[in-house]
Amino acid sequence: MIIVLDGPAGSGKSSTAKALASKLTLQYLDSGALYRAISYQWIKTGKDLSLFDNLDEMPLTFTYDSGEFRVFIGEEDCTAAIRSKKVSGSVSKVAANPTVRAFVNLLMRQHANAHPSIADGRDLGTVVFPDAEVKFFLQASAEVRAQRRTKEVLESGQNASYEEVLQNIKERDRLDSTREHDPLRKAEDAIVVQTDQMTFDEQVAFCVEHILSKTSLTIE
Ligand code: DC
Repeated sequence: MIIVLDGPAGSGKSSTAKALASKLTLQYLDSGALYRAISYQWIKTGKDLSLFDNLDEMPLTFTYDSGEFRVFIGEEDCTAAIRSKKVSGSVSKVAANPTVRAFVNLLMRQHANAHPSIADGRDLGTVVFPDAEVKFFLQASAEVRAQRRTKEVLESGQNASYEEVLQNIKERDRLDSTREHDPLRKAEDAIVVQTDQMTFDEQVAFCVEHILSKTSLTIE
């Protein structure tokens, strides 16, 4: 069982997916975090492109426990570090690499085969899980997404200006939707959730109702 949520940066995919995972007792799979972890390691090892030729050797693992998706490289828990500005600034470039994409897709499919999951990303409904039981595509204007992301960053204790976040979101939208390999795109059979005017609870309730009508899942 796999349910997917795709959409641009800051559209509320991860918080929605986590809320759905908790309500429906599913594992949550954060594909962006896997791209971020690879970017983090790439920066840490001096931006050596040969890293991408040996991804099989990268000890990248992840867990979902108590509502939190954690990523590890070897013994190192890099869950917090992958959210840094440095990583955010280079992740679109790393995620455009087809070898990196094939590696992340394999990890995700292996996990979803073993555990009923809900996953979020950019190309899950189109490329990674074309046969997903339910597909959502979350949308909101760049301005609304930047407001939400700025609030999140400030709440996590880091510095952020709305203008800087808006610029980063627009640049990532451009890179993610115009790249050659697996660009951000709505699957034909995905349900569009336009979240600008919705509260978080409304958007979760909308998704729950849809999932319950399309699957055999039940609420705890
Ligand atoms: O969801 P996020 O902002 O943490 O994602 C980080 C980056 O990873 C984003 O800029 C695009 C990329 N990404 C992707 O290309 N494909 C996915 N399925 C998920 C994320």
